[in-house]
Amino acid sequence: MKVYITRKISPIAETLLKKEGYSISVFKKDCAISKEELMKNSRNVDALISQVTDPVDEEVIGNFKKCKIIAQAAVGVNNINLSAARKKGIPVTNTPDVLTDATADLAATLILSCARRVVEGDKYVREGKFDGWKPQLMLGMELRGKTFGIVGAGRIGQETAKRIKSFGSKIIYYNKSRKPEFEKETGAKKVSLNSLLKSADIVSVHLPLTTTTKYILNKENLTLLKEGSVFVNTARGEVVEERALIKLIKSKHIFSAGFDVYENEPNVNKQLFSLENVILLPHIGSGTVEARSKMAELAARNAINVLKGKNPLTEVK
Ligand code: GLV
Repeated sequence: MKVYITRKISPIAETLLKKEGYSISVFKKDCAISKEELMKNSRNVDALISQVTDPVDEEVIGNFKKCKIIAQAAVGVNNINLSAARKKGIPVTNTPDVLTDATADLAATLILSCARRVVEGDKYVREGKFDGWKPQLMLGMELRGKTFGIVGAGRIGQETAKRIKSFGSKIIYYNKSRKPEFEKETGAKKVSLNSLLKSADIVSVHLPLTTTTKYILNKENLTLLKEGSVFVNTARGEVVEERALIKLIKSKHIFSAGFDVYENEPNVNKQLFSLENVILLPHIGSGTVEARSKMAELAARNAINVLKGKNPLTEVK
């Protein structure tokens, strides 16, 4: 059995796959694999372990000769054409749960760092501008008593909310379905998207990217955001109409915004570089040693299960 891994990931994956006697090849360059290389290298494999940056589209899937599973080492699968995989009877798996804490930690980090102007402060000191304590220097926003709105109350959204609740914020959420357990635990209230945008002091995006969530936050509804709010996105860039968001950051309608994801990754809109009230991270939501190792392990275990004729552990339905 041949397994192709499209990026160097935690060695646990190779260790597990080798134990099964599979032959493994890995795309070793330190960049995203191109579609051409992916087509060529995945044509004859039995399992593909993919990453968020891989264009696993209809043509790539159509080109598989015998691939039995696409095991994505990530929770988001928007880079994979799910209906093409379904048509070919190939299960797609992802890595939920194991990266929830890491991503929620990062969302909370961005929220606090935006609210307290942490990156701006660091730059100020490094540039030699700090000439002593000042009563009005770099005042930020306190979280106690504020309203925290999550757009998308899945695992990561809920965990982020629990973290922010511990700072004294009240929780509201926008989600397709109600989350009674979450409401019971945190006192969160389900609201419409528009009312969330109107009443939240802090908005954090946690929706997966699908055809229905693309630009769910757009030039029309983003203008509802409260003046002086904090906006953070650790989900997918295309959920938000970036140009419209940038306009609101530039005009300081938004107090501060934290980006871990961008609309056109890896390209970052250059207008963001000169803005002081933004924090820009390189898509590292799940980037902890612990999470990345568990993600690699779960992707490998999914591949092994399917190659052995068993059910995958975490299939994307
Ligand atoms: C990372 O972005 C993921 O979807 O796991």
